[in-house]
Amino acid sequence: MKKVYSILLLLVFWVGIISVPAQKNVGKTSTKDAQIEAKVNALLAKMTLAEKLGQLQQLDGDWGTGEARPEQLELARKGLLGSTLNVRGFKGANDLQKAAMESRLKIPVLLGFDVIHGYRTQFPVPLGESASWDLEAIERAAHIAAKEAKSTGLHWTFAPMVDIARDPRWGRVVEGAGEDTFLGSKIAFARVRGFQGDDMSADDRVMACAKHFVGYGAAEGGRDYNTTDMSEQRLRDIYLPPFKAAVDAGVGSFMTSFNSLNGVPSTANPFLWKTLVEKEWKSNALVVTDYNATKELVNHAIAADEAEAAMKTLNAGVDLEMVSKAINQNGEKLLKEGKITMATIDDAVRSVLRAKFRVGAFDFKPIDEAKQKASILTDENRKAAREIAGKSMVLLKNDNNTLPISKSVKSLAVIGFLANDKRNMLGNWTADAKPEDAVTLMEGLKNKLGSSVKLNYAMGCELKCTDTKGFDEAVKAAKNSDFVIITAGEDADWSAEAASRSDISLPAGQTELIKAIHSTGKPYAVVLMNGRPLTINWEAENSPAILETWFSGTEAGNAIADVLFGDVNPSGKLPITFPRSGGQIPLYYNALPTGRPFAEKDKYTSKYLDIPNTPLFPFGYGLSYTTFKLSNMQLSQTRIGKNGTITVSVDLENTGKRDGAEVVQVYIRDMDASMSRPVKELKGFQKVFLKAGEKRKIEIPIKVSDLGFYNAQMQYVVEEGQFRVMVGTDSQNIKDEMSEFFTVVK
Ligand code: GLC
Repeated sequence: MKKVYSILLLLVFWVGIISVPAQKNVGKTSTKDAQIEAKVNALLAKMTLAEKLGQLQQLDGDWGTGEARPEQLELARKGLLGSTLNVRGFKGANDLQKAAMESRLKIPVLLGFDVIHGYRTQFPVPLGESASWDLEAIERAAHIAAKEAKSTGLHWTFAPMVDIARDPRWGRVVEGAGEDTFLGSKIAFARVRGFQGDDMSADDRVMACAKHFVGYGAAEGGRDYNTTDMSEQRLRDIYLPPFKAAVDAGVGSFMTSFNSLNGVPSTANPFLWKTLVEKEWKSNALVVTDYNATKELVNHAIAADEAEAAMKTLNAGVDLEMVSKAINQNGEKLLKEGKITMATIDDAVRSVLRAKFRVGAFDFKPIDEAKQKASILTDENRKAAREIAGKSMVLLKNDNNTLPISKSVKSLAVIGFLANDKRNMLGNWTADAKPEDAVTLMEGLKNKLGSSVKLNYAMGCELKCTDTKGFDEAVKAAKNSDFVIITAGEDADWSAEAASRSDISLPAGQTELIKAIHSTGKPYAVVLMNGRPLTINWEAENSPAILETWFSGTEAGNAIADVLFGDVNPSGKLPITFPRSGGQIPLYYNALPTGRPFAEKDKYTSKYLDIPNTPLFPFGYGLSYTTFKLSNMQLSQTRIGKNGTITVSVDLENTGKRDGAEVVQVYIRDMDASMSRPVKELKGFQKVFLKAGEKRKIEIPIKVSDLGFYNAQMQYVVEEGQFRVMVGTDSQNIKDEMSEFFTVVK
């Protein structure tokens, strides 16, 4: 079949003087793809070696001004600069592309930037957005981000980060979708679709980048950049699927990861790029290294020098070198020495040129500054940011309906550094957002309450809270108020890159401040702002209400006020486990059963002497201002073939007095397999909005082909036998009547 295909390709494009190149597997191609390939190959045929090596170089522009550096403009004029990161905006993008248009072949520069959760309008940090479990909202946020980014001349965002993370000490947990492969895969797909749409050359779309491939979130000790080592089964079952979902969504690029995986750094790992991405997934996406990652192969001690690092990068199937210049500076020598081939160079150049055609870079039009200004930070974009922020918040505790705060309240104490701080509302990786854009909680409360409620603000202490001089003022504000809102959490720079923490508790002083407020006897709610799970044991035990708001973005204050006063009913669910202690890590819900699963009365079972096995708050958990009831669970059948789809149905009822949304979650357990399988795995979910008193039959299809795993022979198999289905509204509290069995048959 492949032979026939090749001849056909020849016949169709012989006028394009195209030979069928030994290029990356392109899988199934559309007419448009074939047209792009023809253009790519026609251009490639005209390029000199220097021009080819130039295309494999991405250089770092001036982050502050968004402009290319003088030497980069010069390289562009000579057609020797493939791509930049951080160049954007009216002057930056226009000047650089104009320089490229002076070159012999007029190949435009590919402009990339970290648009992680918004360009100028910031949405909640990705972990927060993921807590919404609302795929449409997540896709919409990415689309708005893409539209704002494209208006500034950018073609490419280095997002979504789709690394599965089970270790909250790792600071980059904030950038992804948490611990679960199924949820993470759905969100990866949604984010890629949001950024790219069907045509990434459109004015409101950019090329996405699935990163960091792969296993980066499994860094030993949760310490960023550290070693990762795992079985191929675990790699394939847990860490690869979100990247495959990105491929299924048509992702245009990948980024290597800094870590070594089983001893081989991603940036020089042919198993990842040639076996998995090209051969198995048939993706011809552009592969860019992470920042300096080629040069850092020398640190990994798998390259004696940058020349060897360049050779290993290219021969692994990686195309574009970010910042370091090993390929550009050593390519010609490596070619002469026969250490790399021209076919390899051509393959990499094709990837870069293909991406440029896909994003419409060749149809360069100077940025229209007025149009750009009109398309960013619009009221519509702010409204969308406020909506998804409200959907992302997780109500962790709400004793005696402490929340929502009554609108008849006359005075509010608002305590804590974060309640009056703009910068941290945006989180980390904030692209071109400006702190002054952000709405603080104080501002959000004023916007909602006007002058009808007296707001008594007291900072209490700075975030590290080592100086408690301000406690008295905070306690006084509390005593003089009807209700107290106390913010607690992290600085946005305590998570994200190079920000791992060995201790994931609140700074001790913050808990002391909460205790001081608690001792006043006033009703209060703790409002968390943080980029990772926190071991908030005292608060979970003693505080009447806790609202997890993550870093909610530009509209943080308004969105938090919406939830605190009940204009928005919280509906978020944790995308990652909150452990009781760092000593429990790694702690994740879909663990294997072990031979001695914990049993209260049996000493010789898997447990600690000093802490329960259970988390503080489990994956999938989140409360509402209303209540919901599941009943009448049914399966469409109890015996099913391997290619079948079983439908799990359940009645969901809003038994409370407020409209609200619930996430019905379907977990599956393979009861008897050739390898030990997790005690449960999320395999389906539906977020459902119900009016107070409304009851609805929810049907969630489960594809039996999704229930497989990689066996000892490294084959993906769905084995016959018994499976258990569990339906709940979090991963831990599953009622017996919400559990059924079915059998997979040949
Ligand atoms: C950083 C990050 C990566 C980011 C890149 C460009 O080191 O690891 O996520 O996209 O460099 O800023």
